[in-house]
Amino acid sequence: MTVVVTVVLTGPAFVLWGGSAAAEVKLTEAFMNDSANIEVGRDIFKKRCSRCHGQRAYPGKGPKLNPKKYSPKFVYKRITKGFRGMPSWKRIYDEKQRKSLTAYILSKDFSN
Ligand code: HEC
Repeated sequence: MTVVVTVVLTGPAFVLWGGSAAAEVKLTEAFMNDSANIEVGRDIFKKRCSRCHGQRAYPGKGPKLNPKKYSPKFVYKRITKGFRGMPSWKRIYDEKQRKSLTAYILSKDFSN
C-alpha cells in the first residue's frame, strides 16, 4: 500500500520538476509567421535593441544581426540568457515577448 501511494505522489511531482528544468519553449511556424507577434517584436526591437545593433547603433556596441545564420532557438536563447556583451532580457520581457522578438528578427520585415 505504501509503495502505491509513493508512486502516485512522486509521479506527477517528477514530471513537473522535469518539465520546468528543461523549459522547452516552442517556436512554431504559426507563431513565427503571425504578423501580430512580428509587430510586437518590431516595437521592442526599435525601443530596446537597435541602440546596440545595426545602423543606428553606437559604433562597436553590438554586431549587426545576420538572421540568415540563426535558428529560432539560437535567437530566443541569446535574448533570454544573454551572452558576453549582450544583456539577458528574461526579467524584462516575458516569454511571449521574447518569442515575438525572435519572430521579428527572423521575419522578412526585419532590418537593423
Ligand atoms: C547593451 C547593448 C545591447 C543591447 C541593448 C542588445 N544587445 Fe544583442 N548583443 C549585444 C552584443 C555585444 C552581442 C554580441 C555578444 C557576443 O557574441 O559576444 C549581442 C548579440 C545578440 C544576438 C546574437 C548575434 C550573433 O550573431 O551571435 C542576438 C540575436 C541579439 N543580440 C539580439 C538582441 C535583441 C533582440 C535585443 C533587444 C531585446 C538586444 N540584442 C539588445 C549587445 C546588445
